[in-house]
Amino acid sequence: MTLTKKDVVSNVLRGRTSMPRAEAKAFAPANIALCKYWGKRNEELNLPVTSSLSLSLGPLGSEVVLATCEGSDRVELNGEAVPERAPFAARLFEFLDLFRPTPATHFNVIARNTIPTAAGFASSASGFAALVTALNDLFGWGLDKRACSILARLGSGSASRSVYEGFVEWHAGSREDGMDSYAEPLDARWPELRLGLLTISSETKKTGSRPGMKHTIETSPLYAAWPAKATRDLAELKSAIVARDFERLGRTAESNALAMHATMIAAWPTLLYWLPESVRMMQRIVAMREDGVPLFFTMDAGPNIKLLFLEQSEPRIREVFPDVQVVAPFSAYR
Ligand code: DP6
Repeated sequence: MTLTKKDVVSNVLRGRTSMPRAEAKAFAPANIALCKYWGKRNEELNLPVTSSLSLSLGPLGSEVVLATCEGSDRVELNGEAVPERAPFAARLFEFLDLFRPTPATHFNVIARNTIPTAAGFASSASGFAALVTALNDLFGWGLDKRACSILARLGSGSASRSVYEGFVEWHAGSREDGMDSYAEPLDARWPELRLGLLTISSETKKTGSRPGMKHTIETSPLYAAWPAKATRDLAELKSAIVARDFERLGRTAESNALAMHATMIAAWPTLLYWLPESVRMMQRIVAMREDGVPLFFTMDAGPNIKLLFLEQSEPRIREVFPDVQVVAPFSAYR
């Protein structure tokens, strides 16, 4: 029997009573994967082929204010009403369909991204994680973070990780119903760690992650090597975090991103997200490293680059990349 998202929601909410309130607010951070999620074993439930590991972006993410309303669903993003038929609204309303107590229940969603949307970094991850947290509060379900992570995953795989701050591991799990596929925070802080966001293009990409990973699995001869590589990298990253070994962390994250892109580049037709400027930046990063600056990068399914470095390198990084937006993921803990 193939399970649907609705089956999973019924399972998670079984035995819970709804105690609706007028309005609920929630925030969830965006996250950048150091070991990527690339490929699904179940497309309906967003169950991944491998486990992944990310770093949440602290104050950068999505805020959601949610209320029930009459008539029809409405959504506002960064102060502007989004037309009902826009892909963003359609995907959101379809997700909300999973949670309507009656077919006549509609929602008013006010969403704001604290991560610059125009810079091409806005991710559905923080949006779905904030939305699930707000739903849990609005209906008074009293779900724990693990259950919220499972529900957020149904919206977008990487949203399962945005339920937490800091380093987060999303366990791939092996169950068919995905009840063992949720994220958990690592018990580790690294206050000196910095992420630098470099915007190369803010245009919406032609192929999103979802069709991109499907196309890679279906056509790339290199995908077969990916699961073992991701599994090795995940273990390596976790031990680098425990040992506070920045070189090992950076090297592994960069190599993981490059290996993921290699699988895409070898797909047919190719999925080449890099722009000439992305390549120039990569070469500059490698050259700086050869000059002794401990600097690494990672990239998702797009042309933009995320730098990884330590606090003490920040002045040097700002000199070379004046437009960089620096994030201190553990700053709240200092
Ligand atoms: C390259 O979570 O956006 O950013 O589950 O289909 O919504 P869906 O995909 P999504 O994919 C993210 C892919 C990635 C790597 C990562 O964040 O781990």
